[in-house]
Amino acid sequence: MRVLLTGGTGYIGSNTAVALLEAGHQVLIVDNLANSNERTVQDIREITNKDVDFVLGDITQPAVIDRILETENAEAVVHFAALKAVGESVEKPLAYYRNNLDGLLTMLESMERHGIHNFIFSSSATVYGGENPVPLTEDMPAGTCANPYGWTKLMAEQILRDAAAANPKMSVVLLRYFNPVGGHRSGKLGERPNGVPNNLMPYIVQTAAGIRERLSVFGGDYPTPDGTGVRDYVHVSDLAEGHVAALEYCVAHHGVETVNLGTGCGNSVLELIHTFETVNGVSVPYQITDRRKGDVAVCWADVEKAGRLLGWQAKRSLKDMCRDSWRCRG
Ligand code: NAD
Ligand code: UFG
Repeated sequence: MRVLLTGGTGYIGSNTAVALLEAGHQVLIVDNLANSNERTVQDIREITNKDVDFVLGDITQPAVIDRILETENAEAVVHFAALKAVGESVEKPLAYYRNNLDGLLTMLESMERHGIHNFIFSSSATVYGGENPVPLTEDMPAGTCANPYGWTKLMAEQILRDAAAANPKMSVVLLRYFNPVGGHRSGKLGERPNGVPNNLMPYIVQTAAGIRERLSVFGGDYPTPDGTGVRDYVHVSDLAEGHVAALEYCVAHHGVETVNLGTGCGNSVLELIHTFETVNGVSVPYQITDRRKGDVAVCWADVEKAGRLLGWQAKRSLKDMCRDSWRCRG
């Protein structure tokens, strides 16, 4: 099947491109390179030994998307393109709402014009907010998001549900990612944030590499076994394979399904640090500091639905995640 990946040169999109190509699909990427590099296209080709088409373009521009959908015979869209820096979204909320929601609406309108009905969306566990008990199941009420980035995901989910309700031909899979980490085992296609990382794993990698002096562990007094925050870290290659399964489901059904993509296990910040040190034979200096505003104590997925609906489950271990994050340090 020919699949259009928006944001496909980004971290999760590029790993998904590899998984789709390896599963025999054809991949076309559109990306404006706002947070990625065209070199990634070559990396995808080298890893898979297969061709991938790339269009440099902004998905908020209808003419760009219309031209692609008119000429490329895509049967499905996997929509990764978005701005994703939580802190930046607080400083520049309008840019986030404009890019993330305008981009989505532009895609959906163009797809409608061209009779394309299969859509997979990158959502986030952030939509659960902090009020629900773990493990989080897809039918739990969405929470209050702590930042504009999170709200763009919640609003996008609503837009997609309304669009599918109005068009019975549409098939939408809303994938709620938990905490993606790691990179392709080749050492390519890792997460390379610009500037100081916000997320734990890239910060650990940069601290181990000596780029950062010390990692701040945000809070040592949570009601968790070692007092530090617990998350559901999932290897990006597992996540990528989850998209292949979601695509197969999507084209065979109609309507909307929401699916958690995680491992179903929680690990603490200290567990991640110590596993990283052991697996890679490096040291990660850290100090425990105050809690970070907006963080929840624990967050992990119920993954029963992903197994039942998509036949997918994460296979890679925390050790694999730590090893491949270090390999992909660039
Ligand atoms: P990323 O920044 O690496 O990739 C996003 C890509 O979209 C980038 O290559 C960027 O250049 C592109 N892009 C952004 N706006 C665009 C536009 N208007 N037109 C064309 N291209 C555009 O991010 P990622 O980590 O790969 O995340 C992919 C998706 O998954 C995003 O929607 C993100 O919000 C979501 N998500 C990510 C995480 C995570 O922890 N990485 C967690 C949950 C959800
Ligand atoms: N943490 C630290 N020090 C750091 C960074 C993070 O101790 O320097 C801790 C956090 O307090 C938290 C854990 O590490 O306990 C994970 O934090 P991340 O920032 O890596 O991830 P979050 O769970 O806060 O958020 C991530 C993505 C969001 C997404 C969310 C979904 O950043 O985009 O997962 O659950 F919405």
